[in-house]
Amino acid sequence: MKKRIIVGITGASGTVYAVRLLEIMLTMPLEIHLIVSAMGWDIMRYEQGWHDETMDDFIARELRPKTAAGDLILHPIGDLFAPPASGSFQASGMVVVPCSMRTLSTIARGHAGNLIERAADVTLKERRPLVLVPRETPLSLIHLRNMTAATEAGAVIMPASPPFYHKPEGIADLVNFMVGRILDLLHLEHHLIPRWGERHA
Ligand SMILES: Cc1cc2nc3c(=O)[nH]c(=O)nc-3n(C[C@H](O)[C@H](O)[C@H](O)COP(=O)(O)O)c2cc1C
Repeated sequence: MKKRIIVGITGASGTVYAVRLLEIMLTMPLEIHLIVSAMGWDIMRYEQGWHDETMDDFIARELRPKTAAGDLILHPIGDLFAPPASGSFQASGMVVVPCSMRTLSTIARGHAGNLIERAADVTLKERRPLVLVPRETPLSLIHLRNMTAATEAGAVIMPASPPFYHKPEGIADLVNFMVGRILDLLHLEHHLIPRWGERHA
């Protein structure tokens, strides 16, 4: 059986990270369970400059041609009957990228009202890796408290703040670095980024 990873996309800036992550994960022998919030889709279309398209159109155009080893299954955000809603569904981990402050707060409080929130809730209760990638800045005390609560429950907060010590040549390098570190946290092997100590700058 292929390793299963759940990917949530919510309404924060930084949807480019999600698109790149999906591209890379589809080259791996994975079963990817994708859930996108309404604002996640709206902001993705806005940031990518797409118009009048459905999520299925995006998958058909952008992702299917790049699919090598991976399988992609799209679940409607409102479908709480979908497999990721249950702990008996054997997923290896979940990432929410980008993660809005709204979704972060509901995850931190265990308010499992949609499929992203429920799948995250399940991931935490089953003690599986949950990576939340917020983009928001600066952060209010409410944001920080929600991040603390999510961390105490077992999530990893991984702010979308790529480093510069690897001397990026452009946005693609910055995006790849974040995607590579997400893959690390999900225990997925890759060669996307230079490793400190393994290559001379
Ligand atoms: C263009 C745009 C960019 C946004 N960026 C962020 C962001 O970076 N972080 C955030 O927490 N909310 C951001 N928001 C607000 C969220 O989309 C909003 O709170 C929404 O309710 C989140 O819903 P969701 O968690 O169901 O996706 C943005 C909204 C717009 C229109």
